[in-house]
Amino acid sequence: MRVLVTGGTGYVGSTAVDILLTKGYSISILDDCSMGHSDNVPTGANFVQGSLLNPDDIARALVDCDAVMHFAGKSLVGESVEKPDLYHSVNVDGSRNLLDQMHVAGIKNLVFSSSAATYGEPRQVPIKEDAPTQPTNPYGATKLAIDQMITAESKARGIAAASLRYFNVAGALKSSRGWLAERHNPETHLIPNVLRSTPENPVKIFGTDWPTADGTCVRDYVHVVDLIDAHIKALLSLQLGVHEIYNLGSGDGYSVRQVVAAASAAIGYEIPTIDSPRRAGDPAVLIADISKAEEKLGWVPTHDIQAMVSDTLASFS
Ligand code: UFG
Repeated sequence: MRVLVTGGTGYVGSTAVDILLTKGYSISILDDCSMGHSDNVPTGANFVQGSLLNPDDIARALVDCDAVMHFAGKSLVGESVEKPDLYHSVNVDGSRNLLDQMHVAGIKNLVFSSSAATYGEPRQVPIKEDAPTQPTNPYGATKLAIDQMITAESKARGIAAASLRYFNVAGALKSSRGWLAERHNPETHLIPNVLRSTPENPVKIFGTDWPTADGTCVRDYVHVVDLIDAHIKALLSLQLGVHEIYNLGSGDGYSVRQVVAAASAAIGYEIPTIDSPRRAGDPAVLIADISKAEEKLGWVPTHDIQAMVSDTLASFS
């Protein structure tokens, strides 16, 4: 089976490419490398450097493919607040173009990277897939719009699809070409920032007065390797005319201070931090209910928070 991996040069997409190749899939990649890195493209993959906003690029990338894993898109909450039009254009219009070109090419299998940001501030945790979707930022709104577009597409054109709503992706994969890891500039995610903290430039803890046990935000971290395992299980479970939605986390919550403690244990000294004001748009607690993915996909995440920080740390060396 040949899978088109959009966004296949980025952090999550390149990990998917590597694992899919190892499992014997043939791979095509479509990426404009605006966030990813062309040096992540392995030998053996068919690489189209192009944009979701250019239907011809998509059509070239789809040649001979049987399925699509759609990772490409803008994914920074803060940036989406500043540039909502950019997020709508790349994420929503780009995904529309992808669905149209899949239709032209007769490709019906799709696994899409959605986000917990579609839910917004949860009324109940852990969050189930049927929780209300009220995104609190343009990023989450674009992911929800794409999910809705895919549902309509599954009814109108009978495609087989799964949207995977990621909680907080972390960790890294050691591939035969070295570590595949987060390489964002600027880096906004907690775990890499904690591991790079120095006494001169300590990591900021965004808010210590949240209504949580230790006053810091609680998130559900899932290892990128477990995440891709769920993608492959989702791909193999697709049914024509059906669009399934799955939450992907570990089902456990860790506060910012607990993540700092896990990282300190991995690095061997107490990581310096500085208490700082809350970050705009942050919900207090996000934890996934992953029972649907466990039951319907037979998926069990196996990496804990210690493995996520240790792998991220190892990827720095
Ligand atoms: N945090 C800090 N200091 C930092 C960075 C983050 O205290 O330097 C805190 C944040 O305030 C938050 C937590 O650590 O409480 C996690 O923050 P991240 O930036 O690592 O991740 P987010 O929870 O903001 O967002 C991530 C993805 C989104 C996705 C969301 C869903 O980036 O795309 O998870 O759970 F929508």
